[in-house]
This record gives sequence, structure tokens and C-alpha cells, in this order.
Amino acid sequence: MAEVAKDLLGWYDTERRDLPWRAAPGKHANPYNVWLSEVMLQQTTVATVTTYYQKFLNLWPTVHELAAAPLEEVLKEWAGLGYYARARNLHKCARSVVDEHDGKFPDTETGLRALPGIGDYTAAAIAAIAFDKPAVVVDGNIERVVSRLNRIEDQLPAAKKAIKAATAGITPNKRPGDFAQAMMDLGSGICTPKNPKCLLCPIGIHCNARAAGDMERFPVKAPRKQKPVRRAISFWLEHDGHILLERRPDQGLLGGMPGLFSTPWVERTDFPASGEWQEHAPVDGEWLLLDEVARHTFTHFHLESRLAVKTTDRRLNIRQGFWHPHSALDEVGLPTAFSKIVRLKP
Ligand code: ADE
Repeated sequence: MAEVAKDLLGWYDTERRDLPWRAAPGKHANPYNVWLSEVMLQQTTVATVTTYYQKFLNLWPTVHELAAAPLEEVLKEWAGLGYYARARNLHKCARSVVDEHDGKFPDTETGLRALPGIGDYTAAAIAAIAFDKPAVVVDGNIERVVSRLNRIEDQLPAAKKAIKAATAGITPNKRPGDFAQAMMDLGSGICTPKNPKCLLCPIGIHCNARAAGDMERFPVKAPRKQKPVRRAISFWLEHDGHILLERRPDQGLLGGMPGLFSTPWVERTDFPASGEWQEHAPVDGEWLLLDEVARHTFTHFHLESRLAVKTTDRRLNIRQGFWHPHSALDEVGLPTAFSKIVRLKP
């Protein structure tokens, strides 16, 4: 199957996407840049990542500056990218590289995997792209390409093993980083989930699914479970141009991020009744419950929220709470779930 790599790399040399974290042809991107982009690209699209990546590099051009930044700053700049444990681990990882590795990223998969937030995929991607190691890189795009090439009938996630073995079989010793990124470009532009552009595919002659004409059947996936719906009321408390926010506990969902005070997010068929939700309000008194509903989807559940609003003439000190200027709400770094809820406020 050395032919696959040869055909794919020939195509990549002329058709590759020009992405900000990619080095010029024949050059190696620096490990910090590769690591930063790969952590951001876990579960997030190239289009979204591009702006965040450039912003992070401007603020923190090297791992030393990132390690020296306060965690809160990093979380604030990460706001909107989702999966906030990534940001916390990013910061931890930068500190570990600086404090324990003399500011240099390890150049082996094993060494990389020992760092916070670096799993099998990211370790392989950094080893291949930054250090030219023939690591076997498998992301969602590559899963699709390889399962079609080989018509792998096993269902995901069980198929991961077979897909990894098949990818190992075509990963070249030369230019493994370009090979991995070429597979990603192929998956995102040509070997797409729906209507793949097989006539343009540089490795179409090697593809078993194309020969059989059943490309869209792969990768075979276990049926998706329906996500439960959690429902909550959030609280908009206003005083003298300031809004009451809380910093969420470090552990758990949206850990360390700012948000509105809310009733617990629990699975239920209806919103809590007034007697129930008022118990969770940060202050007693008259609250006005708005009708509109904000919706946000997390990995394991949908969240539906309504907003209760109140103005207070006293600036109370509330445990875990802080007052933030209304006019600067955009800059506090609310996670998207809360920006949507905040937008319910007329
Ligand atoms: N997705 C994850 N890593 C990527 C990369 N290096 N290039 C393009 N898409 C990616």
C-alpha cells in the first residue's frame, strides 16, 4: 500500500490547505504551534479554531509566556471554544513543559502522552507533524477515509482498532506529518460524509468502497442514543449597571468558567415551578420569569434555560459571586451556553 501514501502526498503538494499552523513545504512547524493547534482542533472545526489560534499566538507567542499567564486569562480567551477542560489542561501542560522539560516538548509519543491534555491522537499528531516520527494519526476524518478504503464493516467505536491497524499499514516513514494532514484534508474536502467527490480523489483507485459504490455506508456507526433534556432557570440580578456572576467550581462541567447563578441543571420534563426555583435565587424577593427559552447542546445532554430577572438597589456580597459591568459582559468570557441565556434579557 506504499502507493496510497505516494499518490496522496503528490496531491497534497499542490492541493494542501494553507492553514496558519502549517509550516511551508519542506519545513517543520514548531512543536508549540503544533500542540496549540491540535489541542484546539480536538472537537472543534478548522474555521473556528483559526481565529482563536492566532489570538493565542499573539498573546502568548511561546510556551514560556503561556505558562506565565494566569489560568483565568487563558480561560477567558478560550471562551466560546467549548470543552473547557482542554483550556485548563493546556495551561497545566505549558507549565509542565516549562518547569519539568526545560521549555521543550518531548519528541516521542510516550513522552508527549504523559503531559496533561495529550491523549493518543494528540501525541501521535505532534510526534508526526512536529518531530517527523512515523506515528499513526487517526482523527474523525481519517477514520472515514480509512474505513472506506478498506470497507471496514465493524461499527464505531469498536472499529477503532481495525482502523488504526489499517492506517498503520499505509503510514509512510517519510513525511508522516504531511501524510496525516493530507488525510485530514482529503477527509474534509473530498472524502466527505455525504456526497464524497470520488472523481477528484487522488487515492480513489485504491478505495474498496468506491469500487463497490457504497462509500456513504462507512464508517459504520452504532445507533446514536438520544440525549436527555435538562431544564433550569438562570438568574439575572442587576445593580447599578452591574450583573451578578459566579465563577463555577474548578471541577465539573464548565469548570472555572464564569456564568449566571442557576437552578441545578437536571433532567426533567418541565421547568421548575416558582416555589422551587426561587429557593435557588441568589437573593430573595420578586423575580420576573421571562417566557423565552435558550437552548444549548453539550456532549451528553441538551440544556433548556429560562431567565429570571431582578434589579436590586443593594450591592450584596454573595458567596462565589462577583459583580461585572453590564457594558463589558462580552469581555468576561462567558461560555456559549451562558451567552445564549444572557441574550434572553431584552
Ligand atoms: N484537524 C486536526 N488537526 C489538523 C491539522 N493539522 N490540519 C487540518 N485539520 C486538522
